[in-house]
Amino acid sequence: MAGKFITFEGPEGSGKSTQILLLAEKLEAAGLNVRCTREPGGTATGEAIRNILQHDAANEPLCDRAELLLFTASRAQLMNRIILPAVEQGGWVLCDRFIDSTLAYQGFARGMDIATLDNINAFAIADRKPDLTILLNLNIEQGFRRLEKRYENGSGTLDRFEREARDFHIRVYDGYQNLAAREPERFCVIDADQPIEAVAEQVWNAVKNRFGI
Ligand SMILES: Nc1ncnc2c1ncn2[C@@H]1O[C@H](COP(=O)(O)OP(=O)(O)OP(=O)(O)O)[C@@H](O)[C@H]1O
Ligand SMILES: [Mg+2]
Repeated sequence: MAGKFITFEGPEGSGKSTQILLLAEKLEAAGLNVRCTREPGGTATGEAIRNILQHDAANEPLCDRAELLLFTASRAQLMNRIILPAVEQGGWVLCDRFIDSTLAYQGFARGMDIATLDNINAFAIADRKPDLTILLNLNIEQGFRRLEKRYENGSGTLDRFEREARDFHIRVYDGYQNLAAREPERFCVIDADQPIEAVAEQVWNAVKNRFGI
């Protein structure tokens, strides 16, 4: 079977990282070759960019356009170095955030022009869109409650995006609904306000239905 490229999207704390690992385990158990990666990051260049984007590593305010181009530079490198080669060799690539995060955060939440972002995204990924995008839908209050719990348990602190005002995150949430409605054939929307195993089961069913594993 040819390789596949699946992305996970959703607001902060919706369970993307949790669900990617669970899906990877199931695909591996089915004998498939799986590669998990994340955005921004996934390559040495991308991880350096991630450090600037999430943790103000350059120690100066980042203008919106520079932010956008750093995200897409990381994406272009990840696509070229990791995702395309793996899929061409029959691998299943699972990516934590991708083009739709740019549209939701920089587009719908920050107000940049969606058509411009579509063009920049298309350029960065050489027009190779994901075969399937899982959108984990979780209202922002729930998401933040989960993140607070994660940080109470001592792992990390809120990053630059997590510190944005609540209405920013509402625009992210609404933006994702818009994106899923725009490309219903690529998106599968899953209610993430369920126990981890129940969400995982729905993700697995979506992947099985889509690709006939
Ligand atoms: N279905 C769930 N029910 C309850 N808690 C969950 C569920 N899924 C994940 N969590 C917990 O919520 C927190 C956030 O989950 P996770 O890190 O997977 O989300 P994320 O979407 O990757 O977040 P981020 O946007 O910050 O990367 C974690 O502590 C995780 O264990
Ligand atoms: Mg995560």
